[in-house]
Amino acid sequence: MALPQDKTREVLAAQAHIWNHTFNFINSMSLKCAVQLGIPDIIHAHGRAMTLSHLVDALPINNNAESQNCVYRLMRVLIHTGFFIQTKSNEEQEEEGYLLTPNSRLLLKDEPLSLVSFVQMVLDPTMMEPWHSLSKWFKNGDDSSTPFATAHGKALFEYAGDQSRLNHLFNEAMASDALLVMSVLIKNGKRVFEGLKSLVDVGGSTGTVAKAIADAFPQINCIVLDLPDVIEGLEGSKNLSYVGGNMFKSIPSADAILLKWILHDWNDEECIQILKKCKEAIQDKENGGKVIIIDMVLMDHNIQKGDDKSYETQLFFDMTMMTLANGKERSQQDWAKLFSNAGFSDYNIIPILGLRSVIEVYP
Ligand SMILES: C[S@@+](CC[C@H](N)C(=O)[O-])C[C@H]1O[C@@H](n2cnc3c(N)ncnc32)[C@H](O)[C@@H]1O
Repeated sequence: MALPQDKTREVLAAQAHIWNHTFNFINSMSLKCAVQLGIPDIIHAHGRAMTLSHLVDALPINNNAESQNCVYRLMRVLIHTGFFIQTKSNEEQEEEGYLLTPNSRLLLKDEPLSLVSFVQMVLDPTMMEPWHSLSKWFKNGDDSSTPFATAHGKALFEYAGDQSRLNHLFNEAMASDALLVMSVLIKNGKRVFEGLKSLVDVGGSTGTVAKAIADAFPQINCIVLDLPDVIEGLEGSKNLSYVGGNMFKSIPSADAILLKWILHDWNDEECIQILKKCKEAIQDKENGGKVIIIDMVLMDHNIQKGDDKSYETQLFFDMTMMTLANGKERSQQDWAKLFSNAGFSDYNIIPILGLRSVIEVYP
């Protein structure tokens, strides 16, 4: 079959496009491999541009005849995806070597804001398995099921409760994100917490966010509410305490209720139930009482053109919420509808967290 010239170009471009998307997972898997081998830490510890042979010698690998060539090829992908650069540290250095970029600095194990546990959690085989069940779920699943449950027979939080390894990985990933978010919020979003005397962090995991708030604002009495097995054995402090419970049933009273990365885990009906419980829990509804949400507001790609990577990342999160938890990422219109259906009067979106925002919701 001979294709006309203009068709040939189109078919070859389509083939390349499909190849690229079929192999997209290699970006994720190369990143995972770099994290597992500790490549960022090894290059960082070297203190200057690290040549390929030095890197291969320092890696915890079975160093055989092909190792240099294989590590070179892995590093070539990771340079292409922005995790390393290849350069000379100074003019005296003869051979080029690898250096970190701001992206791989966030993959150092001892970096306080490290995303190592997030990468490990998202790319753990348990979390990857549901993606292989996506079409099966579309064919057989009902409203309340998830591809995660199709793959593992249980909802994510129920499953994590029974699997201490996954529970630990998940909570570590949440804690590292919490540190990053709080470091930005304490620097640029202090006014969100001004005037508050008490706050409940609903679904606050092991308390990293609440600890940061309790330390930065000693006048705020903080309570972490999470499932009993998540907070088991955790010790509070002067202005921080833990309560085991269920946010669908009851939330302790406070001036402000914080929901960080909670509502995107749930469908609209469940979010309305949670928000209604939050409203009941707000002590002083007239005087600054509020719900503080930290979550994404999906970009309107028709208006905010140009930032394709941010938009794509938000869509990836949305698919992740659908696949793992029957949740979703929401547009400004979606949020407005939720707040009004849960009986709130107004809201204010503060876009100071990159792909996510702080949303203050007023009773
Ligand atoms: C995505 S994590 C967010 C953790 C934390 N807010 C953060 O952003 O670091 C969701 C949290 O909700 C908690 N959770 C799930 N169901 C809950 C329920 N019914 N009541 C209270 N917490 C719940 C989970 O245990 C988990 O810690």
